[in-house]
Amino acid sequence: MYDQNPTLDQQESLLPDDRQGEVLTREEMEQAAAGRLFYLESYGCQMNFSDSEIVASILHQHGFGLTRQFQEADLILLNTCAIRDNAEQRVRNRLQELRTVKKQKPEALIGMLGCMAERLKARLLEEEQLVDIVCGPDAYRDLPQLVASADSGQKAVNVLLSREETYSDIAPLRLDANGVTGFISIMRGCDNMCSFCVVPFTRGRERSRNAFTIVAEAQDLFNRGYREVTLLGQNVDSYKWQHPETDNWYHFADLLKLVAEVSPLLRVRFSTSHPKDITDEVLHTMAAYENICNYIHLPVQSGNSRILEKMNRTYDRDWYMERIDAIRRIVPDCGLSTDIIAGFCSETEEEHQDTLSLMEQVQFDMSYMFFYSERPGTLAARKYPDDVPEDVKKRRLNEIIALQNIHSANRYKQDIGKTFKVLVEKTSRRSAEDMCGRTDQNKMVVFPKENAAAGDYVFVKITDATSATLIGHMTEPVVAAVK
Ligand code: SAH
Ligand code: SF4
Ligand code: F3S
Repeated sequence: MYDQNPTLDQQESLLPDDRQGEVLTREEMEQAAAGRLFYLESYGCQMNFSDSEIVASILHQHGFGLTRQFQEADLILLNTCAIRDNAEQRVRNRLQELRTVKKQKPEALIGMLGCMAERLKARLLEEEQLVDIVCGPDAYRDLPQLVASADSGQKAVNVLLSREETYSDIAPLRLDANGVTGFISIMRGCDNMCSFCVVPFTRGRERSRNAFTIVAEAQDLFNRGYREVTLLGQNVDSYKWQHPETDNWYHFADLLKLVAEVSPLLRVRFSTSHPKDITDEVLHTMAAYENICNYIHLPVQSGNSRILEKMNRTYDRDWYMERIDAIRRIVPDCGLSTDIIAGFCSETEEEHQDTLSLMEQVQFDMSYMFFYSERPGTLAARKYPDDVPEDVKKRRLNEIIALQNIHSANRYKQDIGKTFKVLVEKTSRRSAEDMCGRTDQNKMVVFPKENAAAGDYVFVKITDATSATLIGHMTEPVVAAVK
């Protein structure tokens, strides 16, 4: 297995050996690409989906065309996730399916990108001959070159992590875009070292992107009709960028202001906030700008302070609850969601009850809930036995899910009778006669179409609710098309 995983710094110093193959000119690479089609499938978090748009842009610039049909692709790419074992299992199963393409089209190449590529490195090429190309999250600029190497039968691996790469200058090619809501990566990597988490190993050191390229990307999206941007990072509150000429530092609250000022008609969201770093200044900035959405995803992981310490989250239950109080005080009506892990190493029944009681106290609108999955090489894998039996983990997780379902149903029901400003995103999946969009608090609303179009702001009165959707109708007179 992967039990001798080096620490981050050692890992970086080992990496140059992983770069293989000779360097081609851009013209040679474009020639190699001419007329060839790539297919790209993404897994994992929103940052990975956002990276796929960078990858698509790089390949497109080098002459590759995009196809939605893997059967006709010359280059099949999976942008993978390594966060839990089942995420990797999904990718392995998919790889087996995709490899059947090779039977009909032996010259087709299969490439693995993203976090699983970074975690497993050249072993993916060697062990089971699973893929032709392995490319880590900081090496996407090298992808055309890696394709050329694989074409000539060479090993094509680049899993170099970088301290600088932010792809700042690359305009993402928007995939699966609804033309209304877009994502902007504002930073990469993570320096936090939560003991359960593989991300610092797969994504490398934290680095923040140039604030002005972020604002320019938001402005460009707005000019193209987009009405919402979500700023992405593993820990957006530690965003920190220094202007090379003025030497001024820009922190997350400063960046939020700059993006919010692009236009009052551009909604601004962000994810993920970290309980140890989210400041009152960020909360006051949210309160000061109507277009910064009142919604915070604040992963708690556990409601027990001993477990939080073992997780190396660097806050305890009281600290988390104080941050929730600050949110409620400074940003009233703020939507709140979280992430929870059930059955972390040595978690007792009482400690699990603490998670349930924290949920009762906060009443999250929504949660992402997981049972603990040991990741090779992480601090927890090296230091703590994964000693909560699987059936106990699953039972605890089910209790967490059942409680969240009650809370979600209550939180959504409380909105019945209220009227919300909704940004219309698209036609509802349920019916072509309905549109859907989100409230400021990030709750999905479905309502009859009438004259509403994607990109409009409309006011919707809520008449019914499930635990994941609000249902309503536009108020009269229709206040639409505020573009
Ligand atoms: N940067 C974010 C989380 C990114 S990973 C943060 O710090 O909150 C998304 C979520 O996956 C985590 O919040 C955690 O709940 C879950 N997760 C991460 N590693 C896990 C593991 N080894 N087992 C189970 N869940 C895990
Ligand atoms: Fe992982 Fe913690 Fe970083 Fe989130 S903050 S990505 S959980 S190490
Ligand atoms: Fe997965 Fe990597 Fe995101 S491990 S959750 S794709 S940062």
